[in-house]
Amino acid sequence: MSESISSGPTDPGAEIAQKLGTLRAEFEAKLAEARDDAALQRIKSDFFGPKGELTLMSRSVGQLPSEQRPVMGKAINEVKRALESELDRKIQDHEARKRDEELRRSRLDMTLPGRALHAKGAVHPVARVMYEISDIFARMGFSVATGPEVELDFYNFEALNFPPDHPARDMQDTFFVRPPDGRAIKDLVLRTHTSPVQIRAMERQGAPIRIIAPGRVYRCDQDATHSPMFHQIEVLCVDEGVSFAHLKGTLTSFIQSFFGSRGVRFRPSFFPFVEPGAEVDMQCTMCGGEGCRICKQTGWVEILGAGMVHPVLLESCGIDSERYTGFAAGLGLDRIALLRWGLDELAHLYRSDVRFLSQI
Ligand code: DAH
Repeated sequence: MSESISSGPTDPGAEIAQKLGTLRAEFEAKLAEARDDAALQRIKSDFFGPKGELTLMSRSVGQLPSEQRPVMGKAINEVKRALESELDRKIQDHEARKRDEELRRSRLDMTLPGRALHAKGAVHPVARVMYEISDIFARMGFSVATGPEVELDFYNFEALNFPPDHPARDMQDTFFVRPPDGRAIKDLVLRTHTSPVQIRAMERQGAPIRIIAPGRVYRCDQDATHSPMFHQIEVLCVDEGVSFAHLKGTLTSFIQSFFGSRGVRFRPSFFPFVEPGAEVDMQCTMCGGEGCRICKQTGWVEILGAGMVHPVLLESCGIDSERYTGFAAGLGLDRIALLRWGLDELAHLYRSDVRFLSQI
């Protein structure tokens, strides 16, 4: 090792070594005093910036005698690196302290529960009934079909065996729609039931077929138990060898899985699109058959209309009525929601009053 490093003050290497010591002490003092961003930045540029003390010192190594350069270069770099990381640590500490202070100042209590901006919604009672019924029929192999709510008179009445002047049409008070193209007014109606979907589905799919068709229907009446818009679900099953026993079995099993085990009875009735037709009652859900306000003291409530699909319908949809037979049924979803929750008035379901709906 050259002896010049340790010799007198005129030795440039020794001068640098000494200066390095002084710089370091100066740096430590300034760093200890620095309290804010500005002071820290000033230290950064005073020591490490383009004109900073350590930068200039690194540069001056070039003027040293060549044998001193590597040693001094290394010494300066080591100091530089050590001081730089000290400064970085201090800057990081400073940032962290600033964040802490800010949090303290904003008094944010991370343990408070969040504020709910919107009340959480729920499935509407009628939709809920619809989903549950659809599930039951889906398990029995039925799929879901749909049809338009603005329907042709043909599908709503004529194809269902209501001839143009048939008195059966009086059973339904119909909203007629005047189309913009000025077609005869009676051609287009708001469907009065979901039965037209039977025809549309059979035309499309032929036999065998097993579908349910839930949806909105419209009639011109309104009182405590009638609304001009309500919901039905249609059931249709056509296959070889389908009999009234299948109708009874399927509908009884549906009623009992939806409402629980209870009596079910079939009464003869008339609908032009079935033969024979039936109305289906079940033992009252409110009184269990004792007699109450809901069942008008009879112990029974009517829950659906049903029957064996009229051969005329099958034939008009191109289905061979010698080979295929079927049953159909239609039920009112709103009525079922009333029974399910013991409601006295249909209008509750449509007032969108959350105080009522949230009880369900
Ligand atoms: N569409 C009938 C109505 O709205 C209900 C009905 C009765 C549907 C008998 C059917 C059925 O499929 O077979 O009053």
